Amino acid sequence: MARILVFAGSARRDSLNKKLAREAARFAREAGAEATFVDLDDYPIPLYHGDLEAAEGMPENARKLRALFLAHDALLVASPENNSSVTALLKNTIDWLSRDLGEGRGDDSGLAPWRGKVAGLMAASPGAFGGVRGLPHLRQVLATLGVTVLGTQVAVPRAHEAFGPDGRIADERVAKSVRALAEAVVQAAGKLHA
Ligand SMILES: Cc1cc2nc3c(=O)[nH]c(=O)nc-3n(C[C@H](O)[C@H](O)[C@H](O)COP(=O)(O)O)c2cc1C
Repeated sequence: MARILVFAGSARRDSLNKKLAREAARFAREAGAEATFVDLDDYPIPLYHGDLEAAEGMPENARKLRALFLAHDALLVASPENNSSVTALLKNTIDWLSRDLGEGRGDDSGLAPWRGKVAGLMAASPGAFGGVRGLPHLRQVLATLGVTVLGTQVAVPRAHEAFGPDGRIADERVAKSVRALAEAVVQAAGKLHA
């Protein structure tokens, strides 16, 4: 069974991207995968600082997240758009999780959470473009780390109106595209896993 790690690049309690990520996780489960939703707010990590890393190594919460990444085959990421790019939270998380554990020995272990994984990208924004301008940046960063990012992606505009009180996507067309992306990730992850 393919194992998919699902998360959003927002810590906000009422995050639209967390709602989107939770829906994608539901669709991935319905497609037969084991999907784990992880809330980055549960894993606060300091801003990356080379001196901090040199003195203390990787923070405990980054190590916990790293272990979660290692235990999954694929990623579904819902990325808010900040000034046409990814959030500082998401980039900081990626940066810490791309660091070698070899304490300067350059053992390439920073690639381990990423290399060989497949990812599906999503964005949700109250704006008219749905956060689509940030996704090429995320695509580039993940590809550099060895992630195979699916060509299909989903951006949800006017996302503050997109979810019902139960947290489910209200618009059937949007739900269909998120479901299709989740299914594509599950299928690709299954093939990689095999
Ligand atoms: C610093 C900052 C920059 C933002 N820039 C953009 C932007 O470029 N495009 C956009 O669609 N929304 C932008 N927004 C609005 C966010 O997309 C919106 O707050 C969104 O709901 C945040 O995601 P979340 O609901 O998952 O927390 C920005 C918000 C902040 C705080």
